[in-house]
Amino acid sequence: MMLEEISKFSHIMYQLNQKGRIDLIPTCRALEADIVSRFAFGTTIGAIDSLQRSRELLDIIHNNDMKSCTMPISVNFPRAMAIWGFLEKLCFRLFGRESRSTSVTKQFDQWTDEHSRRTENGKKVETSFINTMIRGQMPFQAAVSEAKEMLGPGTDTTSATLAHILWALSLNQTFQEELASDLATAEWPTDMAQLEAIPRLVACVKEGIRWTGAAAAMLPRVVPREGTRLAGKFLPGGTIVSSSPIWYLRDEIAFLDPMSYRPSRWLTDKTDPLNSLRDDYYIPFSKGPSTCIGIHFSYLELYLSVSQVLKNYCLKPGEYSFISADTEATLPPRLEWVAAVPTTTLGINLQRRYS
Ligand code: HEM
Repeated sequence: MMLEEISKFSHIMYQLNQKGRIDLIPTCRALEADIVSRFAFGTTIGAIDSLQRSRELLDIIHNNDMKSCTMPISVNFPRAMAIWGFLEKLCFRLFGRESRSTSVTKQFDQWTDEHSRRTENGKKVETSFINTMIRGQMPFQAAVSEAKEMLGPGTDTTSATLAHILWALSLNQTFQEELASDLATAEWPTDMAQLEAIPRLVACVKEGIRWTGAAAAMLPRVVPREGTRLAGKFLPGGTIVSSSPIWYLRDEIAFLDPMSYRPSRWLTDKTDPLNSLRDDYYIPFSKGPSTCIGIHFSYLELYLSVSQVLKNYCLKPGEYSFISADTEATLPPRLEWVAAVPTTTLGINLQRRYS
């Protein structure tokens, strides 16, 4: 399933590049939205096709992104959000008008409902998360809610990471060619065990996940009733403590020049004294019982996407002034509220690898 979507994406990337440099953020977002929607509901949401039609990302995805950008406002000012919701409903009742965001949210609910019911109605459908849950006796609404939940945290994180990695590779031609050569020697594998056995690919993706720090949100935890000691201080039960993975991923000691994309830091030999500190501070998916459920999914997706794109194309910088440079990419300016969203275009050009 992933391979089919990546192959479609790879083809469309080339078509988009005929019209100008590729903007990686919406393009990768479309790929992940289609992979995760197909995994969750058995059908893609049609994001890659929408890019092909208009270079614009599907309204539903765009709206979902906007919503996660405003999440800190809804969390910190719940009353203001409730008043806003009430006014919107009133306006709809009186004048039949609603905001674009509300109508697109309804569209999304309709889409998920329609695709979830195909399983309920006993139609023959592709194996998906939702039909597996329903067949496993999970109540219908709970299964829909779990499947919908994936489309947020499952897509903006992996897509931002893929976009950052492809952009960084386009700037560093030497590393890109070394990686392509390792993949070619391994005959461009698609199996997880074989992909994981290519150290340069592992370093490329692991460093991409660290450097992108896609889940930038603060992750709150409540201290249990009996209280606990943290860094020598007693915290009474009920205290809320929180921290963000990016604080650790940018630690200057564990990761020298943390804002630089430097895969070589994961290619050191076993005697490097920083290895264990690096492993301790590498927590992009958080840690403990609430850790991200999509870890393996996203590693597979990133290994496959990077290798299949490199199989077809040499990635060239979006700005021609960079051509033939071997630049170590530094983190582009981003909004880091919930997911990290670059505020500039991450542009690249493609050249067919074997014409
Ligand atoms: C590079 C990719 C990804 C990163 C960096 C990432 C990171 C995270 C983090 C830090 C959390 C919060 C964990 C906590 O509260 O301690 C989380 C939660 C979650 N992730 Fe991921 N994730 C990624 C990809 C995915 C994928 C591919 C899926 C699904 C297919 C997924 C599904 C989820 C879900 C369902 C949650 C729970 C959300 C909630 O509790 O509200 N994630 N992720």
